[in-house]
Amino acid sequence: MRSILAALLLVLSSAVNAEAEVDPATGLIVAEGWQTVRAHCGGCHSHKLVTAQRGNRETWLAMIRWMQETQNLWQFDAATETTILDYLATHYSPSPVRRRAPIPPALMPASQ
Ligand code: HEC
Repeated sequence: MRSILAALLLVLSSAVNAEAEVDPATGLIVAEGWQTVRAHCGGCHSHKLVTAQRGNRETWLAMIRWMQETQNLWQFDAATETTILDYLATHYSPSPVRRRAPIPPALMPASQ
């Protein structure tokens, strides 16, 4: 029993450690490219507007083009744009997992 608990704790704590580190000042996930996004995406509005949004690569690109066409967002060189899109599409993508997994039938109460 004790060893099961210890194993469980180990699994839980490693799950916590695996959680992404977040920059306290901006709320951005600290990962490759985050400083580029910090530099370009916080000048006109809070970075929270970015972190609250989800999108795949096309959606993010469309938002950037919209801001460039209508909100005076500057043009990026290709490398910068790729860095920004890679970062956003990786860390702020629509999550397919919005619910917990179903409870396995073996763990469900017996039906009447
Ligand atoms: C030149 C100014 C400017 C910069 C720089 C800028 N934005 Fe925006 N962005 C805007 C404006 C203006 C809005 C509309 C804000 C509002 O509706 O309150 C906006 C809105 C947004 C929204 C909300 C869109 C929606 O549909 O609600 C997101 C997400 C966003 N920006 C992401 C970014 C990202 C990512 C970057 C960096 C690549 C960026 N912004 C850089 C001006 C800018």
